[in-house]
Amino acid sequence: MASNPSESTPDTVLVVDFGAQYAQLIARRVREARVYSEIVPSTMPVAEMLAKNPKAIILSGGPSSVYTQGAPSLDRELFEAGVPVLGICYGFQLMATTLGGTVDNTGSREYGRTRLTVAKASSTLFEGTPSEQQVWMSHGDACSAAPEGFTVTASTELVPVAAFEDDGRKLYGIQHHPEVMHSTFGQQVLEHFLYRGAGLTPSWTTASIVDEQVAAIRAQVGGKRAICGLSGGVDSAVAAALVQRAIGDQLTCVYVDHGLMRKGETEQVEKDFVAATGVQLKVVDAADRFIDALAGVSDPEQKRKIIGREFIRVFETAQAELVAEAGAAGEDVAFLVQGTLYPDVVESGGGTGAANIKSHHNVGGLPEDLEFELVEPLRKLFKDEVRMVGQELGLPEEIVQRQPFPGPGLGIRIVGEVTRQRLDLLREADAIAREELTAAGLDRDIWQCPVVLLADVRSVGVQGDARTYGHPVVLRPVSSEDAMTADWSRLPYDVLARISTRITNEVAEINRVTLDVTSKPPGTIEWE
Ligand code: XMP
Repeated sequence: MASNPSESTPDTVLVVDFGAQYAQLIARRVREARVYSEIVPSTMPVAEMLAKNPKAIILSGGPSSVYTQGAPSLDRELFEAGVPVLGICYGFQLMATTLGGTVDNTGSREYGRTRLTVAKASSTLFEGTPSEQQVWMSHGDACSAAPEGFTVTASTELVPVAAFEDDGRKLYGIQHHPEVMHSTFGQQVLEHFLYRGAGLTPSWTTASIVDEQVAAIRAQVGGKRAICGLSGGVDSAVAAALVQRAIGDQLTCVYVDHGLMRKGETEQVEKDFVAATGVQLKVVDAADRFIDALAGVSDPEQKRKIIGREFIRVFETAQAELVAEAGAAGEDVAFLVQGTLYPDVVESGGGTGAANIKSHHNVGGLPEDLEFELVEPLRKLFKDEVRMVGQELGLPEEIVQRQPFPGPGLGIRIVGEVTRQRLDLLREADAIAREELTAAGLDRDIWQCPVVLLADVRSVGVQGDARTYGHPVVLRPVSSEDAMTADWSRLPYDVLARISTRITNEVAEINRVTLDVTSKPPGTIEWE
């Protein structure tokens, strides 16, 4: 194993981000081709990009026109460094103008599905793809003359130069967006650039990610100890499993049972996760404390604050106890493991290296502030890659494929005061909905399906021969890419019927099941 994290860095493709959301999607598609990619801002000096020793560079699309004053530009030396470059959309036009081609501000826009005609069937980018193919376009300006040395390899009705290639200098450009699904042969064109143009091999696999991260974690942590908080979610579980694989018993995980989990989830962490990883786990049963603190509170913001505050107190107490125990044994707990993902890193402006965080705690006899260095083994990964790494590490399917669940748990799915009895009702109803959705094979089709208890609402019903005065629950199945926007899932009626029948039969006090048919916006996913 390498002792220096940088020694294990895989062959890297840099995706230069010219704005909009294109760069993340391109980076993901490159990784789907099993080549590691990283996003850098277009404002990064070219020398700094080259210092990262990229094996290829992709220039993303962006919202600007090369004719707009102050539009992002690129230093010519990027094209002269001998590194293969692919320009996409805005990146393509920038490449054209920088190297002496012509881009006209024609005023005629191409947007959406467009027919592309390939001019050179054997070209590096298009070989093996049809001479006429559907691509996705989004541009106002059009390239009318390629720079010297380039061969024009495709056109559209409105754009005479829709792709150009220079195999000698390994420079390539396409006007369309290969990263979106509407470009039928987009992935193939991208892979042609990576494998044929840049000579890369598809070697970045989940097994290689695990090896690379294990080496990096060992190098970072050395012989010291680390702590990781488990939430029951995918990210913290995979981060913990990776660190456990790297440093074994030098890691201790802490799981705070706040009593607001779904049915069976605490047991999954305590039993299945521990069995699969061999991790040392400290479970803090704090359910009473949370439920007591929530007594009499109906306001959602106040509930969130209370749950957050109690969580930090309980976690930090457990953490301080572990530090004290280790200290008594002559050991030093210096690291805190977190499941930060790549989109968080990109969206907070990138940045490398471990940040230091301070942990304030309130246990007597210990130093005022504990300083931990962060270990973030998922910093380079997208969510689907995290799931694949989890699978590679042998984590239970129920944990790896788990749908998003809010930190404050069922506490924000009871509209009204949170009590033990209401939590029990909701847990049962939620378990039935999950069971039926899984049995119907719908888990991958829906993003998540909160079940919400309207605890302050009662309505009349009839169950058996008796009139009842019970609560409704709301089913909130949604489809989404990222939870920022969502649509209500059109679940089959028979599945809805089974869920409804079972909940009203099996959960006393729930006599109505309703379906939320609101998109987001305007409705959020959670009800609170
Ligand atoms: P909303 O309700 O805002 O939720 O549409 C968007 C997504 O975020 C999840 N969510 C949370 N996740 N801590 C979390 O880790 C929270 O406090 C929290 N609140 C909402 C929600 O389940 C949905 O996926």
